[in-house]
Order: sequence, then C-alpha cells, then structure tokens
Amino acid sequence: MTDIAPLRVFVQSLTAVLDRTEDQETVLEEGGRLLKELISGDDWLPDCFAKPNPERYSQYLLHADPYGRFSVVSFVWGPGQTTPLHDHRVWGLIGILRGKEREERFTRSEGGGFRLEEEEVLGVGHVGPLRPGDADYHRVSNALDDAPSVSIHVYGANIGAVTRATYDIETGEEKQFISGYSSDVVPICGILRNDTNHDF
Ligand SMILES: [Fe+2]
Repeated sequence: MTDIAPLRVFVQSLTAVLDRTEDQETVLEEGGRLLKELISGDDWLPDCFAKPNPERYSQYLLHADPYGRFSVVSFVWGPGQTTPLHDHRVWGLIGILRGKEREERFTRSEGGGFRLEEEEVLGVGHVGPLRPGDADYHRVSNALDDAPSVSIHVYGANIGAVTRATYDIETGEEKQFISGYSSDVVPICGILRNDTNHDF
C-alpha cells in the first residue's frame, strides 16, 4: 500500500498556515516551501491518482479543506494533451512531480484577444505560483510526447466548484466552466490503520 504520509503532512502544515494568516503572499511563500517538500519524493501518490486518460487530461482531487480555504489536486497529462487557455480566479501553486510540462502565460492584448507573454518548460521539482488578476491566464500541456506528466496543484478554494473561464486566444471570447474532478474518491488523509496500535 502506498504510504501517503507526505500528503498528510502537507495538508496539516498548510492548514496550520491558513489558520494563522490569510495574506496571499505569505500563503504562496510558505505553501510553496511545503509543496516543494511534498514533491521532493515520488512514492506517496497512489497509482489511481496518477493514471492518464487517453481522451483528455485528468484532475484528481487529493484533499479539499472542510472550510473551502484550499484544495490539492493531481493533474495528469497523457502525451500530447493540453488545457485550453484558462484562468483560476484564486491563488494557486503548481509543483511538477513527474515528467515535464509546458506553461504558456498570456496577457490580454489591445485587440480583445490574448498575447503570449512567456513560455517555460517546467521539470520535476519546479514550484510556481498563480495569482488572480492580470497574470491569471495560462495554457498548460505535456512537454513529453512519449510519457505522461504529473503535477500537484494547490488552489485557494475548492477549485472543482469554482466558476471560471476558458478563452479563445484570437478573439478573447470567454466561456465559463466549472471543472469538477476526474474522480469521486480521495485518498484517506486522516489516521490510517497502519498508524495505530493494534494491540487491543
Ligand atoms: Fe491552470
């Protein structure tokens, strides 16, 4: 059985940060450090939350804070899979666990569409922030054409229930969406049987 202890430690530690502060930059800085620690190992994510779907990229919920302050999601891209240009509308952190991802960051152009501002290939161990506002628009794809890539995302809300939007790059046309999740189960982040003393 996969030992999800690192995920449990991450959830507990980020919960403690959010109990202490709501300041976005502090959360991104301290949460970023915690996420870096989480993705420094690659043996804690159960296989069913890292499984590619040949039809489309997958987003598996790993934990939703009971007060809706954050959620943790594993994103899995098969070869050649990509998101549309989209926004988030809440703070976020992206950490690359396996493979390589291409992130293209866009800004609104004067003609009503979007302009590519930066493009970066992110490798294992990379952690980067998302901030709602002018810099909240990106498109993400698997940079590998022969293997899946997996990243761990953290958002400042239950992201699967947030109304946000995809955009046409040329025209800027906005389409609202609520992503939901690719799975209807989550790993057990509470006390596991093998954490307890069975001598009773
Ligand atoms: Fe995104």
